[in-house]
Amino acid sequence: AEDGYDLWLRYAPLEPSRAEQVREVTGPVAIRGEADGTVGAALDELERGLGRMLGDDRGRKSITLTRIADLSDGEGWLADSLVGAPEGSFAIAADPHAGTVIVAREDIGLLYGAFALLRHLASDRPLPEMARTYRPAMPLRLLNHWDNPDGHVERGYAGRSIFDWWHLPEKLDPEMIDYARANASIGINGAVVNNVNASPLFLTKRYLPKLKRLADAWRPYGVRLYISARFSAPKDIGGLDTADPLDPAVRAWWRDKADEIYAQIPDFGGFLVKANSEGQPGPQDYGRTHADGANMLAAAIGDRGTVIWRAFVYSAEDETDRAKQAYEEFVPLDGQFANNVIVQVKNGAIDFQPREPFHPIFGAMPNTRLMLEAQITREYLGQASGIAYLAPMWSEVLDAQTGRAGTVAHVIAPVGMAGVANTGSDRNWTGTHFDQANWYAFGRLAWDPSLSPQQIAREWAAQTFSRDETFLGKVVPMMLGSREAVADYMTPLGLAHQMATGHHYGPGPWVCDLARPEWNPCYYHAADSEGIGFDRTAYGSDALAQYAPEIARQWADPATMDERYLLWFHHLEWDHRMQDGRTLWDAMIARYDAGVAEVDAMAQTWAQLAPYVDPARHRAVSESLAIQQREARWWRDASIAYWRSLNGLPLPDGVRVPE
Ligand code: GCU
Repeated sequence: AEDGYDLWLRYAPLEPSRAEQVREVTGPVAIRGEADGTVGAALDELERGLGRMLGDDRGRKSITLTRIADLSDGEGWLADSLVGAPEGSFAIAADPHAGTVIVAREDIGLLYGAFALLRHLASDRPLPEMARTYRPAMPLRLLNHWDNPDGHVERGYAGRSIFDWWHLPEKLDPEMIDYARANASIGINGAVVNNVNASPLFLTKRYLPKLKRLADAWRPYGVRLYISARFSAPKDIGGLDTADPLDPAVRAWWRDKADEIYAQIPDFGGFLVKANSEGQPGPQDYGRTHADGANMLAAAIGDRGTVIWRAFVYSAEDETDRAKQAYEEFVPLDGQFANNVIVQVKNGAIDFQPREPFHPIFGAMPNTRLMLEAQITREYLGQASGIAYLAPMWSEVLDAQTGRAGTVAHVIAPVGMAGVANTGSDRNWTGTHFDQANWYAFGRLAWDPSLSPQQIAREWAAQTFSRDETFLGKVVPMMLGSREAVADYMTPLGLAHQMATGHHYGPGPWVCDLARPEWNPCYYHAADSEGIGFDRTAYGSDALAQYAPEIARQWADPATMDERYLLWFHHLEWDHRMQDGRTLWDAMIARYDAGVAEVDAMAQTWAQLAPYVDPARHRAVSESLAIQQREARWWRDASIAYWRSLNGLPLPDGVRVPE
């Protein structure tokens, strides 16, 4: 039975008409030159994929994989488009006689090319379209696993960790190879294997052989291994009495540690660090800056790898506006970070909400290598229930104009994108079948942020479920509307952080008694009998001033701004007139209702799609949508009931009082 284990790499048999077209351009697979390691993986994948899609008859032509170095005289034209192309680039060419040729400079390009070819055959796209050059838009396309050594996954909703630290290094789960294949298939080229709230265990001698085993297994697939490093490790496991980044003994300890790691893992990616954030140790414990801390680790690693330093910081002492704090701490450090340091910035200034305006740091640190951090796992978006396809959310941020340096995608293009992984030990990897689409979409957008969420959904659904036109015509719009539905029934019109305490599952707008003010939902909605919303204008926290003037202006006026961000920036009276003339109260209720209605529509659509999906997966998705239907009502009804307890307003005409 279909259980989702194969992800988008199912390679379901092509229907006869498509198979016939494909056989016009494919055939037996040949490789010029050495075929070990990465190229061997490419050959295996083509064998597997073509075998399953086409059966024994692979076609009348051939598929040839060739490195540029192995091209013969007269074939130079095949490499023209790859001159100066970034690492991992490849070209697919159609040769009327020979069939299909995949050319790349590096072996990893050939593997990416094999996956691209298979993806194209498995989709419903016209075959001639595949002949072109493919280049990654950014060099680093990284998963961040928040997995702990004991197997628990922070904010993981798909079971336990996929990493079996207990049995490594002797035992390597075959899943670890399938994991690397899945990543390579969408261009992901690095994985941080442990939680940013890091255990120092990963830096011990005991763990090094385990890490090495994984790194060796993933190397052919171009997936470099990184770890999260605990800043206090010199004290925790090194026997020193300080972790001060300017202390010579501390610097020597990290240098030795890096040497020890690189001796075993020559292509070790580097360290990801969460410092002085939510209780984690860091350089500020010693009166040093983030730059002091990052540069110390960067010196230890040298040009062998990268230090990725997170900008997710906010402190209990600063009560003005949490949304302003990362900018205030980091922007003054612009230009002070070493060349092999990357600063990793979440998409928005709070924390992975269903909708946030882009983080004001993007564009504001022109002399720092900035990388975007997105969250694939749905901590604040319903976790492991229902459907929330996140590509529209990420595209919204990537396409946002910073007003300083082009779009966010443009700012991060020289560096990369990280995604907090949603993988776990569940058979289908991600808890729900549709959450596979978020892993997929993250990789595809990191490779090419200009891909539309629609195109990504379409190619994912075609590979994962069915190429049938009717199916795709229904499932793709359903996916595209799903995240907006969640934003509507949880936190409409720019509200944020209304989730219940700690676990962040379900509504909690009434919560107001937590120790730190900025943990309370009431801090974010600021609602009372008069109105609702967080004033970030000059009359309030003035977070707006962190954006370029041109952007700040767009959001400064409720009468003209994009109302999806309304209550993020403005505190307004309940009877504030919206741009369409309704009151804010009526508009809010309409959004909650629209969210519920959208989930109901998704459930209905999915029910109609039973003929196109195997029963096991169809049923699992139906059940998941039934949970989401219940949750959407819970969110809407609890939220509205709470707002009414403050404002005493009646429900608009025609709206039912929740039972
Ligand atoms: C969120 C999340 C934490 C996580 C933190 C981070 O606050 O709830 O679990 O550790 O982000 O990104 O560091």
